[in-house]
Amino acid sequence: MAKRVVLAYSGGLDTSVAVRWLIEERGVEVIALAADVGQGGTDSPDTLRQRARAAGAVEAVVVDCKEEYARDFVAPALKANALYEGRYPLVSSLSRPVIVKYLVAAAREFGADAVAHGCTGKGNDQVRFEVATRALAPDLEVLAPVREWGMTREDSVGYAARFDIPIRVSRTSIYSIDENLWGRAIECGIIEDPWEQPPEDVFAMTVPTATEPTELVVTFEAGLPVAVDGVRMSLHELIPAVGGIAGSYGWGRIDMVENRRVGIKSREVYEAPGALALIQAHQDLEGLTLERDLAHEKFRLEPRWAELVYDGMWFSPLKQAIDAFVDESQTYVSGDVRLRCAPGQCTVVGRRSDVGLYDHGLATYDSSDTFNHQDAAGFVRLWGLGVQTWASRQLRSAPAGDDTAQG
Ligand code: ARG
Repeated sequence: MAKRVVLAYSGGLDTSVAVRWLIEERGVEVIALAADVGQGGTDSPDTLRQRARAAGAVEAVVVDCKEEYARDFVAPALKANALYEGRYPLVSSLSRPVIVKYLVAAAREFGADAVAHGCTGKGNDQVRFEVATRALAPDLEVLAPVREWGMTREDSVGYAARFDIPIRVSRTSIYSIDENLWGRAIECGIIEDPWEQPPEDVFAMTVPTATEPTELVVTFEAGLPVAVDGVRMSLHELIPAVGGIAGSYGWGRIDMVENRRVGIKSREVYEAPGALALIQAHQDLEGLTLERDLAHEKFRLEPRWAELVYDGMWFSPLKQAIDAFVDESQTYVSGDVRLRCAPGQCTVVGRRSDVGLYDHGLATYDSSDTFNHQDAAGFVRLWGLGVQTWASRQLRSAPAGDDTAQG
């Protein structure tokens, strides 16, 4: 039985109540660890620490992980154009492994023998927390108070009141929100009905305010964005900078029914203007800079990478091996991408690269053409030779052969 537990603390109702519940029901000492992954929020580090202590934590730590999160967790996702089921840029899935890294580090520092999270039993996040912990620290126990306690939201509010746990419960907080610098996930409330249109008030990063179209140029070096309109910035600053612009046109929303790892289909609403704009720009630059076979093979691996990360396999050999492939592929993904934003839109309208494989002389139909047209005739004849032979000997007798072939 664990004696000291490091709890992933958000400052919200569930994890505040979890601090006390772990003390009362499991007889442990609780160290609260809040990780800043760019979720914004109104609580200062001081407020978070005070609230955790008021709930009973013996220690409360707030760590700023934004830079590391962007560099080591978001960057590989961007290089891999990672979109789960073709649409979801893995917002929550990416933040869990970095949080686990800090949970494990804190467990070592404070001599804890367990970590804890505030996830329910129905979601993917429990999977990510627990599998990542087992990869990094198999000796640590993992406690999941929210999965165990069986309290409703009202019960939790009552529990907080009984133990004088300070909470901020607004009447409107019917949604379960998870946010970080890569985007925002919204669940619960009315949107649990997949037929219902998400009310405007669920959105925060994509509130339409801009009306005049604008353009921005994103510069990439070796697969990662390094500047916007010539202003260099680090990734954890660049993502919100691009997202702020694209989002102000009301662009960057995703509304989908998604397959969770635990077998449930769930209606998910996301907003990720920065992620979607950058993935779009990055994909486009790859169109210009990646050799055909490399591009096609990468395209096949991308959904696998996204699935692995969605499924909690951040720390796994296959994910690591795909990372190595993706890294190698990015050597020449350098150049500029022009994005044009307008109400409801963000589109790539131009791209250029000093190491691009686009050759105007080869592509053009005008007089500067350098392509050898004679080469094409022989190439196409040989390309079709096998099919021609097959058609003349076998297509005739194929049961489903069409009329012209039989004639
Ligand atoms: N369905 C998404 C995922 O599994 C979002 C999860 C959001 N988490 C939350 N606590 N609201 O990655």
